[in-house]
Amino acid sequence: MQKYIVRGGRPLYGEVRISGAKNAAVAIIPAALLVDGVCRIENVPQISDVTVLLKILDRLGANIRFLNPTDVEIDCRGVRTTHVPQELAHKLRASYYLIGALLGRFGSAEVSMPGGCNFGGVRPIDQHVKGFAAMGADVREGDYIVANAKGGRMKGASVYLDVVSVGATMNIMMAASLAEGTTIIENAAKEPHIVDLANFLNSMGANIKGAGTDTIRVFGVDSLHGGTYAIIPDQIEAGTYMAAVAATGGEVLVRGIIPKHMDCITAKLQEMGVTVEEKDDTLLIRREGALSRTNVKTLPYPGFPTDMQPQITTVLALAQGTSIVTEGVWDNRYRYVGELMRMGAQIHVEGRTAIVEGVSHLKPATVQAFDLRAGAAMVVATLAAPGTSEITGVQYIERGYEDIVGKLRSLGADIQSVEYSDDEEFIQRQIG
Ligand code: EPZ
Repeated sequence: MQKYIVRGGRPLYGEVRISGAKNAAVAIIPAALLVDGVCRIENVPQISDVTVLLKILDRLGANIRFLNPTDVEIDCRGVRTTHVPQELAHKLRASYYLIGALLGRFGSAEVSMPGGCNFGGVRPIDQHVKGFAAMGADVREGDYIVANAKGGRMKGASVYLDVVSVGATMNIMMAASLAEGTTIIENAAKEPHIVDLANFLNSMGANIKGAGTDTIRVFGVDSLHGGTYAIIPDQIEAGTYMAAVAATGGEVLVRGIIPKHMDCITAKLQEMGVTVEEKDDTLLIRREGALSRTNVKTLPYPGFPTDMQPQITTVLALAQGTSIVTEGVWDNRYRYVGELMRMGAQIHVEGRTAIVEGVSHLKPATVQAFDLRAGAAMVVATLAAPGTSEITGVQYIERGYEDIVGKLRSLGADIQSVEYSDDEEFIQRQIG
């Protein structure tokens, strides 16, 4: 296993290039199943969730060929099975996209219940199932989700989502692309990755209108053709580097982003006294003085993203005064707070609200990454804490952040990834 050793307390300086968006890539790669031809997908992030998905497609019979580390050709014409076994599906949450893609292509899917990051609460997929059922599929849920479209092909339908769900919106879009007739998704999610999936499918011949608004119309077509598509930059990766600079101080140019996608994060950092200057596809982040308190409420896009909540709470832990953070998307996403408190943060959680009393500095500690974004928060916290900290559970971080150690080192951070054993972790946690 790997752990990170971080000698914190140094400001960050330099430039960092943002990779392709994880939450777009983990939908677009399964969507290649719908395409009758070769998809060339560019700007694919080099993260373990992507590798797992490509391995799943390979096991299903797809032909995968890397042209370079970030550009991959996927040819799913040879796929003959719709069965995704447990040992593959449980490795990531996004394996649920295989259900929509397989249903769209073959009219049937048998996918083990998805695994992935568990930040404490329940992660239901009832809205996905509701959408598939409205489109004529018989869906049974057990250890496996077994779905079969009546007559072997999905049928267009109107689906009103009871909750704004990223996964359900994308899954229904996939199942609808090759359906007979038109599907209307109301109360759809509007995240940049929703638009990216629609753009990918449209570039391969689908007919999807309204992605990025509350109402998406998918006019089913008979087949999709191959093509080339580049994934958008990762809003959350960029936001995490912005948060790191806010916490440590310094000046960093974040490159290769879409500034519009960053507005919700930029606005909060500016309220906290961080300078953010936009130019073309870059943001310059500078933090010199003290951080001011503010309140943050996470909401579906264009609101403040829940996937930035642990990182912004970490920055607020270092701000002057009391800040209130409200989690508006997930029931329970504060498991990481205990780890921050072991570093000296003063945070009180009540249900979906965290009351953060700012402290002047965090203390080094051995902390654990419980999930991907909790892990990102631990990176931000340990970079800001003067002294030597360790982060275990870093395999979660590497599910979603490409070369985080290399990128931070290029900004002057003292962080390294080292091998360690379970026994060592046990002993260190008893000491720490
Ligand atoms: C996606 O999860 C992301 N994951 C999550 O990012 C992100 O936190 C989330 O969207 C919200 O932005 C991937 O893209 C792989 P949802 P998803 O369906 O699609 C409720 C990260 O760190 N809900 O939008 O699973 C649900 O309980 C990960 O990168 C239902 O009730 O999230 C939640 O409260 C973690 N029924 C809310 O909706 C459903 O059928 C939003 O969930 C589906 C969801």
